[in-house]
Amino acid sequence: MKALVTGGAGFIGTNVVKHFALKYDEIIIFDNLSRKNTEKNLEFIQKNFKNVTFIKGDVSIWGEVKKVFEDHKFDVVFHLAAQVAVTTSVEDPRTDFNINALGAFNVLEGARITGQKPVMLYSSTNKVYGGMEKVKVIKKDNKHYGYKDFPEGISENFPLDFHSPYGCSKGTGDQYFIDYARIYGFKTVVFRQSCIYGDHQFGNEDQGWVAHFLIATNNGQALNIYGDGLQVRDVLYVKDLVLLYEKAINNIETVKGQVFNAGGGKNNTLSLLEFIDIIEKKLGHKIEYSFEEWRPGDQKVYISNIAKAKKVFDWSPQYNANAGIDALYEWVKEL
Ligand SMILES: NC(=O)c1ccc[n+]([C@@H]2O[C@H](COP(=O)([O-])OP(=O)(O)OC[C@H]3O[C@@H](n4cnc5c(N)ncnc54)[C@H](O)[C@@H]3O)[C@@H](O)[C@H]2O)c1
Repeated sequence: MKALVTGGAGFIGTNVVKHFALKYDEIIIFDNLSRKNTEKNLEFIQKNFKNVTFIKGDVSIWGEVKKVFEDHKFDVVFHLAAQVAVTTSVEDPRTDFNINALGAFNVLEGARITGQKPVMLYSSTNKVYGGMEKVKVIKKDNKHYGYKDFPEGISENFPLDFHSPYGCSKGTGDQYFIDYARIYGFKTVVFRQSCIYGDHQFGNEDQGWVAHFLIATNNGQALNIYGDGLQVRDVLYVKDLVLLYEKAINNIETVKGQVFNAGGGKNNTLSLLEFIDIIEKKLGHKIEYSFEEWRPGDQKVYISNIAKAKKVFDWSPQYNANAGIDALYEWVKEL
């Protein structure tokens, strides 16, 4: 088996490579290393896995993507490369579009024009459901918000409402991946991921808040909280996401062309203030933080309904939030 992992030096990519390099014959990473610290992930991969080849390239450049598909024949493609921050997408929507929308299209086209039909997984986002202004949010207590009417969370049937350039560009890729299954019989699966966290995540203020909070506070830095800190996300430890990807690959004939929400679900939620409590317990002292304005597209609550993935794949998160945070913290301490 041979796999392509675009964005393979990134956080999720590194975890995908770690898992599948032990199972597949060969893995090609295609990444432009634009995310800070990805070179550290790549160094880790190259030291530990001899069947992984790195190609430095940009998914927004058609010629580079085409060449990868001309030079290699893949059984599986994980399309993870992306501009990942809403904030950056607002500052530079064209670059965001080129990487996320055109990049996703280039990867599909790479397979199509070379006559390949690998399994193709796309890492989409809950941001495709928009700001959810009409969804009623209530204050559950002084630490977190919750949904009034969606006790199980948001399912895949929730109407799409692309919000922010990032929402639009990722949503474009999401829809193209689904459509290539319809129109060209491609074996694509889309995962609308909520907050994924774990080892090899060099989180920063703009993306990857769980890792960012742990890395910053472990280095004694103060945190900025955008909004009031009561905002809630369901969180999924990255190893559980990788297992979900594997289930999709193993069941591709049943699930091709389908969408799955991928998150920790209602049993693994965390507000920013609740997470700060957890960190303070871990560090054994109070941490410093201040409040800033909400940012565009910020949802007060996002909790995935993961019933579909549970039912179709007999999958459920093995790491609860405490276990996942413990595992991430062990990695952060070694940085
Ligand atoms: N981490 C999350 O919580 C989360 C949630 C929803 C969706 N996603 C999606 O999952 C995917 C992986 O995210 P991640 O958290 O691992 O982020 P990441 O930033 O760690 O990984 C993205 C990788 O893509 C690479 N990249 C960026 N632009 C590129 C380009 N033009 N060409 C080639 N490579 C490029 C980066 O160098 C990086 O290695 C992304 O598509 C992201 O939108 C992540």
